[in-house]
Amino acid sequence: MTDRKGFTLWFTGLSGSGKSTLAQFLTPILKDRGCNVEVLDGDEVRENLSKGLGFSKEDRDTNIRRIGYVARLLSRNGACAITAAISPYTSVRDEVRAMTEATFVEVYVEAPLEVVEERDTKGLYKKARAGEIKNFTGISDPYEAPENAEVTVHTGSETIEESAERIMSYLEANGLLAS
Ligand SMILES: Nc1ncnc2c1ncn2[C@@H]1O[C@H](COP(=O)(O)OP(=O)(O)O)[C@@H](O)[C@H]1O
Ligand SMILES: [Mg+2]
Repeated sequence: MTDRKGFTLWFTGLSGSGKSTLAQFLTPILKDRGCNVEVLDGDEVRENLSKGLGFSKEDRDTNIRRIGYVARLLSRNGACAITAAISPYTSVRDEVRAMTEATFVEVYVEAPLEVVEERDTKGLYKKARAGEIKNFTGISDPYEAPENAEVTVHTGSETIEESAERIMSYLEANGLLAS
């Protein structure tokens, strides 16, 4: 049994805001600091754990509850669980926060809609604007920005390194990493 304190790093933000990028960027840094890191990326989870789920509010909530459940199991066993799913609804984010036994760190990965639409990393905004994708978060489906996130990063104006550094500083300041 490890005595390392696990935690969940819960990223939330619009598609293209930088959740996956930051999760991948932080993984080796946290591993270097002795963390057992697992990333639960929304896109990947939807291919296995949540295969078959769509984008209705009910299905989105189910997807987030499943990710929250796995993050809970990992983090209570000393791992660092990083989740990278849009998680647009405050109520379900609060629900997974409440069920998590280890420390829950909500990270609002903020970028203005204009910025993520301009990035359009997966070409989805273009399709959503053209009406080819329905229920697209930020365009035709809600995104409820967190009001009490532990950390907010502004990826429209910060570099990846700067955003990652702010998250690392929070973890250090709160005793979640050995110094
Ligand atoms: N500070 C930053 N943090 C994270 N990503 C950034 C930042 N600045 C610019 N980017 C860019 O934004 C894009 C984010 O895409 P991605 O990580 O796939 O978003 P998401 O997983 O939230 O849908 C990438 O192309 C990344 O290089
Ligand atoms: Mg992603």
